[in-house]
Amino acid sequence: MPSNAPIGVFDSGVGGLSVLREMRALLPNESLLYIADSGHVPYGEKSPEFIRERCRVLAELLLAQGAKALVLACNTATVAGVAELRELYPQLPLVGMEPAVKPAAAATQSGVVGVLATTGTLKSAKFAALLDRFASDVRVITQPCPGLVECIEAGELDSLATRQLLQGFVTPLLDQGCDTLILGCTHYPFIKPLLRTLVPDSISLIDTGAAVARQVQRLLAQADLLASGQAQPAQFWSSGDPAAMQRILPLLWGEPGAVRALP
Ligand code: DGL
Repeated sequence: MPSNAPIGVFDSGVGGLSVLREMRALLPNESLLYIADSGHVPYGEKSPEFIRERCRVLAELLLAQGAKALVLACNTATVAGVAELRELYPQLPLVGMEPAVKPAAAATQSGVVGVLATTGTLKSAKFAALLDRFASDVRVITQPCPGLVECIEAGELDSLATRQLLQGFVTPLLDQGCDTLILGCTHYPFIKPLLRTLVPDSISLIDTGAAVARQVQRLLAQADLLASGQAQPAQFWSSGDPAAMQRILPLLWGEPGAVRALP
């Protein structure tokens, strides 16, 4: 596998672009491929079997495009599908993601941590294991956020509807004494500025995009696969409406780009 081959990244939709941005910042020489599975968003309420099947399909498509490594830029896809992908591709550098329970447990002063994530992530055995491992000394309050991903997919990062929905999710967490909130879904970093206006400055907001980018860097270095020289422009596919993604790409990715329909 040539080290200048691209890295394949996917999510249920445009949320994983928050991770892709961190990868671009840390690894500017890497060429990036991104699939938004927006035709099947949200994953949060879907069965693990359905999501596992999507993970297999999307991984195959990215590998067929020559990806040297895969990133599941989606917490919900990771809890459902990363174990199977690791079995299918044991040699492949593969990075999944999970809510940042460990850093949040270390950061909290009040001893109460809130987790905003999808129903699928919060219900999973993998998340329960994460709490057992890292959160035995703190109280963790979980908050599923149905509807929020759809607002972000529509590019509504600070509309009244998004604000009201988010307020409804966050207020009970603040009332119960949370001083640290985990953004456990890759869509949510895009509404961090809005969330900041709804919570006091003393509340820490933690997400894992930058940590995932560092893990990608580590795995590529171990496999001697770090790219050098000029990266190719990022390539985007959507299983939903490519024109809709192309319209909100400048907002979420920071620059325009062509989005193709997923084959
Ligand atoms: N972005 C995804 C995550 O990190 C899932 C959103 C969804 O499709 O429900 O969990």
